[in-house]
Amino acid sequence: VTPPGLPATENEQEMPTLRHQPLLRAVTAVLRASGSSAREAKIVADHLVTANLKGHDSHGVGMIPQYMRHVADGVLRLNRHIKLLRKDGPFLLADGQGGHGQVVANEITTRAIATARRHGIAVAALNNAHHIGRVGAYGERCAAAGLVSLHFVNVAGHGPTVAPFGGRDGRFGTNPICMTAPGNGRRAPIILDFATSKVAVGKIRVARNKAVRVAAGLLLDPRGRPTRDPAVMFAEPKGAVLTFGEHKGYGLALFAELLGAALTAGHTIPPHQPWNLGIRNSMLSILIDPDRISSRRHFAREVDAVVRYVKASPPMQRGRPVLVAGEPERASLAERARRGIPIDATTWSELCAAAEGVGLGRAEFLRLAEG
Ligand SMILES: NC(=O)c1ccc[n+]([C@@H]2O[C@H](COP(=O)([O-])OP(=O)(O)OC[C@H]3O[C@@H](n4cnc5c(N)ncnc54)[C@H](O)[C@@H]3O)[C@@H](O)[C@H]2O)c1
Repeated sequence: VTPPGLPATENEQEMPTLRHQPLLRAVTAVLRASGSSAREAKIVADHLVTANLKGHDSHGVGMIPQYMRHVADGVLRLNRHIKLLRKDGPFLLADGQGGHGQVVANEITTRAIATARRHGIAVAALNNAHHIGRVGAYGERCAAAGLVSLHFVNVAGHGPTVAPFGGRDGRFGTNPICMTAPGNGRRAPIILDFATSKVAVGKIRVARNKAVRVAAGLLLDPRGRPTRDPAVMFAEPKGAVLTFGEHKGYGLALFAELLGAALTAGHTIPPHQPWNLGIRNSMLSILIDPDRISSRRHFAREVDAVVRYVKASPPMQRGRPVLVAGEPERASLAERARRGIPIDATTWSELCAAAEGVGLGRAEFLRLAEG
């Protein structure tokens, strides 16, 4: 299955495929060897392998080499937890303390869900987290708790990668936004979760690793000219990714920056903030209990009706029905849980080198990964 949103590519190489359980054990072992507690290693590894299973290789195990570099550089701090700075009715503010984003974002999400259950709404701000990964992972937890959720995230701690509409160079990170609506017994939740850039930079990395060109209209070279060469994002000076949806995606990127970081006392992107922190994600999450506005039953009935109506639109292409956000990830999960996760050769060799770098040893990593 083609990962959702992956740009059209050419000359795609044949990729090795790994079963997810052994891959999970191998990645957990790398994280343990880097100094993470067993619990932290499990949370981060689960998140990354699930991202691969859901088709988002950009946020999967291919992040490990970068995480290990950031641990070595001292900008990703191990075994950290959120520090609650403020709790005022439905409002929460927490410092992620530069810790593994998957750990601290899950911690604030747990608190936000409890707060929304109590107050009907939660407005939860997390700043100073290392990479929180796939934002949908936190939205899925809110939806599973029967809540509607909105998440605005900025990406800082390093120089910009995304050009504003009409600009020639990067002025933002890929600033993702996620919105979710809970499912019910018959219908799965709706999980809308995307970067405000045309594609996540991780997807450009995947294209570079596979040595393929990206689709036209995604990238600018360092002089602001259109290019299809993914390498421009990994050279100095860097190129830039364009925002999706022209001025509208740019507007959303701007608000992900303002709500995700300015409002959460996080790191925004301008150079008055440090650019030597590896990655810093800040996130504003707004959780709403539908029962506190109208009723859960009414909301679920209307969501069902809207989804049925939308999906009944005659498909533009035969055999490709209209989908609702969250469906491509579930389809990928079903497929990859059965058939395994394809890993490109460059990602694979970087992972083996990362395992060696933290003293796990290539042979042990391979033994675990190959089950
Ligand atoms: N932590 C960070 O700093 C950071 C930064 C950027 C992106 N991300 C994550 O990267 C991941 C990938 O982002 P992306 O922009 O590449 O995603 P994408 O372009 O693949 O879009 C994914 C969203 O679109 C929906 N979708 C896909 N195809 C669809 C179709 N045919 N019909 C209806 N809906 C469809 C999916 O269900 C999903 O909600 C996300 O999980 C995002 O949170 C994280």
